[in-house]
Amino acid sequence: MASKGTVPEVALKSGNARPMPAVGMGTAVFPVVHEDTKNAVLAAIEVGYRHFDTAALYRTEEPLGDAVAEAVRRGLLRSRDEVFVTSKLWCSQCHPELVLPSLRETLQNLKMEYVDLYLIHWPVRMKPGPLAFPNKKENALPFDFEGVWRAMEECHRLGLARAIGVSNFTTRHLDKLLAVATVPPAVNQVELNPVWQQRTLRDYCAARGVHVAAWSPLGGQNWGGKGNAVLESPVLAEIAQARGKTVAQVSLRWIYEQGVTSIVKSHNKERLRQNLEIFDWELTEEDRVKISQIPQKKLVQFEILFLPDGEFTSVDPAEMNIQEE
Ligand SMILES: NC(=O)c1ccc[n+]([C@@H]2O[C@H](COP(=O)([O-])OP(=O)(O)OC[C@H]3O[C@@H](n4cnc5c(N)ncnc54)[C@H](OP(=O)(O)O)[C@@H]3O)[C@@H](O)[C@H]2O)c1
Repeated sequence: MASKGTVPEVALKSGNARPMPAVGMGTAVFPVVHEDTKNAVLAAIEVGYRHFDTAALYRTEEPLGDAVAEAVRRGLLRSRDEVFVTSKLWCSQCHPELVLPSLRETLQNLKMEYVDLYLIHWPVRMKPGPLAFPNKKENALPFDFEGVWRAMEECHRLGLARAIGVSNFTTRHLDKLLAVATVPPAVNQVELNPVWQQRTLRDYCAARGVHVAAWSPLGGQNWGGKGNAVLESPVLAEIAQARGKTVAQVSLRWIYEQGVTSIVKSHNKERLRQNLEIFDWELTEEDRVKISQIPQKKLVQFEILFLPDGEFTSVDPAEMNIQEE
């Protein structure tokens, strides 16, 4: 059984966050049921998770904060400082004057004094307004890399975000950000799994000290109804059978071996536990070669952020394009 202390940690190269546990629990679910998320986080803490991922958009900041507070009350945690908490700035909040107020709202939801990591959710800016998903194409605006990053740096300077970073950034977006950053981004959280391996981006980030975290490490929650390319992969199934592991464990182990942190969602205690049991065995060289040959396919395109109708009036959609193998 995985228990506290068995999950390796990664020291981030920017900011002053505590080291990040190499597997974190994702909390994006639809629809959100407060008690379900709270109970899932409590179950995760019981089996050894100390790293949680949320976002303003997910509306899971409150149940996550409630679960951490309850875990402290129950003695499962000594204090909030024992967990690594990430939240994210939504696209309609990507305006310099809205960044700090948005983080303050996040902290209020979490009932915490700081987040360990605050991320720009997408390199996409939308007109200010409710946290709409999907949004109208007409509401997309050119991204203000310098203005938004300065405000992120201010959040860090004030101690409200121990580290700051980005999500869904390509090398092209990172080029623009690094050209203006005083505090470099500590993390880039992106879609990454054996079916979308992101070799170009990983090499780029490794050379610049940006740690990569993987969302949908198991291929996501099948919101599009098209099945799950990771959990249904015959290559991964064959390896899993040979190693006496599950397909999920093979995927998470492969990600860990790439030096990437998985953010994995489960509301099932057994699967939560299983997803941490990846640190005392390894893949063989033959397994790694087979995985490297899996045909690549991105599951999520930036278009999901927008309604199908309408037109982009003030941005070039190519600027937001996230396809980069
Ligand atoms: N930055 C971004 O733009 C972005 C985008 C998407 C997601 N994320 C973050 O990343 C997190 C994870 O991604 P995700 O939620 O898309 O999907 P995921 O973690 O790849 O997949 C989760 C799905 O797999 C199932 N599962 C979990 N463990 C399993 C196991 N051992 N065996 C079989 N099935 C298993 C879960 O169902 P059960 O609950 O029934 O186990 C769940 O439906 C999100 O929750 C969110 O925090 C970030």
